[in-house]
Amino acid sequence: MRSADGAGRKYARPVAMAQAGTIESVYREQRLFPPPPQFAERARIGSREHYEAMYRRSVEDPEGFWREQASELFWFEPPARVLSWDPPVARWFDGGRTNLAYNCLDRHVTGPSGGHKAALVFEGEPGDVRTLTYRQLLAETSRLANALEALGVRAGDRVGIYMGMIPEAIVAMLACARIGAVHTVIFGGFAAEAVRDRLLDAGARLVITQDAAWRRGRAVPLKAQVDRALQAVPSVERVLVVRRAGVDCAMQPGRDVAWDEMVATMPARHTAPALEAEHPLFILYTSGTTGKPKGVLHTTGGYMVGTWLTARTVFDLRDDDLYWCTADVGWITGHSYVVYGPLAAGATVLVYEGAPDYPAPDRFWSLVERHGVSIFYTAPTAIRAFMRWGEEHPRRHDLSSLRLLGSVGEPINPEAWMWYRRVIGGDRCPIVDTWWQTETGSILIAPLPGATATKPGSCTLPLFGVRPRVLREDGTEAGPDEGGYLVIDGPWPSMARTLWGDPERFRQQYFSRFPGLYFTGDGARRDADGYFWVVGRIDDVVNVSGHRIGTAEIESAIVSHPAVAEAAVVDRPDPLKGQALVAFVTLRAGQTPSPQLREAIAAHVAEQIGKFARPDVVRFADALPKTRSGKIMRRLLRELAAGSEPRGDVTTLEDVSVLAALRQDEE
Ligand code: PRX
Repeated sequence: MRSADGAGRKYARPVAMAQAGTIESVYREQRLFPPPPQFAERARIGSREHYEAMYRRSVEDPEGFWREQASELFWFEPPARVLSWDPPVARWFDGGRTNLAYNCLDRHVTGPSGGHKAALVFEGEPGDVRTLTYRQLLAETSRLANALEALGVRAGDRVGIYMGMIPEAIVAMLACARIGAVHTVIFGGFAAEAVRDRLLDAGARLVITQDAAWRRGRAVPLKAQVDRALQAVPSVERVLVVRRAGVDCAMQPGRDVAWDEMVATMPARHTAPALEAEHPLFILYTSGTTGKPKGVLHTTGGYMVGTWLTARTVFDLRDDDLYWCTADVGWITGHSYVVYGPLAAGATVLVYEGAPDYPAPDRFWSLVERHGVSIFYTAPTAIRAFMRWGEEHPRRHDLSSLRLLGSVGEPINPEAWMWYRRVIGGDRCPIVDTWWQTETGSILIAPLPGATATKPGSCTLPLFGVRPRVLREDGTEAGPDEGGYLVIDGPWPSMARTLWGDPERFRQQYFSRFPGLYFTGDGARRDADGYFWVVGRIDDVVNVSGHRIGTAEIESAIVSHPAVAEAAVVDRPDPLKGQALVAFVTLRAGQTPSPQLREAIAAHVAEQIGKFARPDVVRFADALPKTRSGKIMRRLLRELAAGSEPRGDVTTLEDVSVLAALRQDEE
């Protein structure tokens, strides 16, 4: 290992290719940043030796380790059995009865602070600020829990939550968790069709939404999208509507209920029921390789222990921290590291409603300065946007309250890592690059900021109880620095239990590629120091601005446009977004390519799925390159989209002239 003198680095961005199953990883980084001594001195885990001793114990005696960790939390009934594992079925903490909302709220109110500590510090986009102490958050959650029960919601029922980043969204999640209703949060950026598909699949009985959400000074209507979605979702009986932006929205008598009329009148006390450790907690939809989103199911006890332990150790949470994770509650990061992990750990969490560049590109830094944020967790796509907007915006603010930075969602390129460290972290804050997934529930590979020396671009070492491996195509172990498939050997408490309504797809997707092992879908390598370098997805799932999207889902949206016959979507490197989306489209007979049609197709995707999935480029083609068995050769399209000549094997191509024609169509 070399130390942090900036010497000896070699560049080439990491590349993952699904080409005949090979993964190429060409990046080599040699800078090393040990934990700053002042940080390590006060850290929960303050040395490499401490980490290693705990890690060793966690893999040698997982049951003892996890029983001990679980016992730090509140159980009505302690678990009888820590684990049963028959891949792909894991059960954790069987016989135990607990309540996640109780652990996030009541436990702190009955604890030494008396619940007077701030749980949430909220800033709306218009600038309104509201603080909720643990005591107040418990009261709000209890009111809503009572209201949901009065509306007929029972344990096991599904509740859709389609909201922006306001405290009520967090209250909604906690109230569901409290009564044992299974929430499915649908990102507020999704359009009505995507909302409909998710509510239908989950069989939701009730939806919680808001009139509109503030975004770049505009009130974006959410209730109206729910109204459109519900035309085709018969299972939904009630809609609870928070008034946030104060815009008019239609209320359907007998179905729609105003939150401020109903919830405010409910008692502020609610007794949390004792729920089984494996009681379903939430379904979160994520993209797979087919058009149909996957409903990832997480359950109560294991998820609670996993998110609590990682929030405490990876973010080194202390009583006086103000912790800010910029993720939206519509994604797993919002679930695990805005809501459940940090609240279970008793942290004070900053919640910001709006856009990072509204009213100006320094909004985030102004928030950090005014509120005194000490831990800041965001995504590489945001960091690259900050870089592009210019250093002058963070420079205008005093960021000295920051002590720790985090990154999640996609590989962080070393340039962005170094910029983050220097400009935001003042060369003083450790950076935790956290690798995990919707399915893993909590962070699995990441540095511990007081213990692990970091290398820009590496998520470093496995966390407690996690045994990641890098395998070759044939299932043998890849050597040091050799690219391969990232798998996890053995279960961990916060792992997804199944895909909602489709256990076979769960097995097939995650446990069939390498039988008995969890297949992540990512390519990675491990270097000679044992550090992991994740290079990205190896299947037909793209990661755009930190959002994981199945190309098939976007393709089916494009094909639903009346002018389109066929579509293939690929990603290409983009300096700002990490990956940009390029759609290759063939038109139906009688349709002619035009700039207007390009625009209409892109707009159609935004309408069907949401703006974030809008293709950056639409290219028309007479035909798409296909194998003889009719499979679209995305590898070729990916190379074309990136502006390079297809280099690989084209012998399986059905009609070689298709390629030449494709090259001619310029954007
Ligand atoms: O490809 C990996 C990438 O994001 C995928 C998971 O996406 P999602 O389920 O939406 O969850 C995102 C937030 C946890 C992974 O399979 N990914 C996530 N974090 C990292 C990452 N790639 C590299 N480094 C990371 N730190």
